[in-house]
Amino acid sequence: PVEEKKLIIGFSQCVSNDAWRQAMHEEMYRELSFYPNLELVIKDAKGESETQIEDIRDFQKMGVDLLIVSPNESEPITGIVEEVFRSGTPVIVIDRKIVSSQYSAYIGGDNYEIGQTVGQYIKTTYPEHIDILEIWGLRGSSPAIDRHQGLKRALEGTSFAFKYQLEGEWERDVAKQKFREFLSVNPDASFDLIFCHNDVMAISAGEVCQEFGIEHAIIIGIDALPGPRAGLQAVNDGILDATFFYPTGGDKAIEIAWRILSNESFDKENLLQTAAVDVSNVRIMKQQTDRIINQQANISRQNEMIASQIKVYQSQRGLLIVFGITLCIA
Ligand code: FRU
Repeated sequence: PVEEKKLIIGFSQCVSNDAWRQAMHEEMYRELSFYPNLELVIKDAKGESETQIEDIRDFQKMGVDLLIVSPNESEPITGIVEEVFRSGTPVIVIDRKIVSSQYSAYIGGDNYEIGQTVGQYIKTTYPEHIDILEIWGLRGSSPAIDRHQGLKRALEGTSFAFKYQLEGEWERDVAKQKFREFLSVNPDASFDLIFCHNDVMAISAGEVCQEFGIEHAIIIGIDALPGPRAGLQAVNDGILDATFFYPTGGDKAIEIAWRILSNESFDKENLLQTAAVDVSNVRIMKQQTDRIINQQANISRQNEMIASQIKVYQSQRGLLIVFGITLCIA
């Protein structure tokens, strides 16, 4: 049974240099503290699908007990994930998808639904015939495709139009550079709303607007992370007009990993909820998330204290045993 043996979870993360992925890792570690015999090893593919394939191969060689993977791009990562799954190692896919159903469980927001929710929000908040400039996440990654498709679907039959589309690849700097280039080459471009596939690109689009003296544009992002310089704060400060929650699912992934490894029942598809955040609710959302962050910090502190007390207890127990043996011999 699971209690007796250390079990290794290999997590192949597509990229990790942003706050959203860091939040995912923190959630995972926090959840892991409930399962002392689970161990997590994270490999960061730094946004390269080739590297991610190698990372997954390394995990295969290590003989991990379970693989979690957040695929950089759907197509290139599908084959290796299928291979691992078919070899009998359970696989949890998180956030970004592969193009196959050969995995044990999926956890993540429903990105198509998020796109649709953005569309509903736009339809009810703004007058028709506004022109949209869209800044995409990485084209080959499923959230970018699904967010676009969902929004497109929601705007069908209206006069809202996707006028311009830029490649931001999920990255603040790429989005910034592409948007700057675009505005330099098209000084007469006219758009009313900038929809970015995530908040970091939306915030950098806001900075570029300032540089170019564009004041009127509505800016919408996705993620709604708490913390300084993240989405919630940006809505609060009026830098973004709206953002949409995109939970990382880190804690849920560990919980499901545990269920799989303990032969307990679990759902294959685990879709997490979204919600719009704008000026009407950002303060209450911030209050709630700040409270959760405080509570989580307390839990982490308590865990550290428990761990250090266990250490003290173990070393004292060791001393007592030595002392007992010495007494017996004497
Ligand atoms: C973080 C991120 C998020 C986005 C998600 C999509 O790396 O770019 O901002 O919502 O990945 O996979």
